Amino acid sequence: MRPTLTLSLLAATLTFAAGAHAQLSEAATHGKATFDAKCALCHNADSTDKKIGPGLKGLYARGTLADGTTKVTDATVTERIENGKVPMPPFKDQLKPEEIKELVEYLKTL
Ligand code: HEC
Repeated sequence: MRPTLTLSLLAATLTFAAGAHAQLSEAATHGKATFDAKCALCHNADSTDKKIGPGLKGLYARGTLADGTTKVTDATVTERIENGKVPMPPFKDQLKPEEIKELVEYLKTL
């Protein structure tokens, strides 16, 4: 391998590693865009204050959903997004499975 190529690969790897903590992953960045478009009208992402639905800051750290018993896992969060819970509308016909996955990746960062 040519030295310049090796060096630029190394630099790219280091930049990526350094940015990983401060920046959202690509999936989470897409998820944030979907959140801002579809979810932010009812959910705060930066606080636990209720809007129309519960504030989602620290959702994964919180451990259980607002009902106090359902564990917060990728499966239960995905289920809630797909099927909603009155008055939250279901999103399984509006969002692709990939978009829901990206949303979950974003929610984990809150
Ligand atoms: C029309 C308003 C509305 C929209 C739009 C909406 N939600 Fe909700 N959401 C709610 C309400 C209200 C609840 C609480 C339901 C309950 O537990 O009784 C909720 C609950 C949730 C929960 C469970 C929170 C908890 O602690 O129990 C998650 C996760 C969630 N919503 C994610 C989303 C995502 C992601 C989107 C966008 C795709 C979204 N919601 C769009 C109103 C909304």
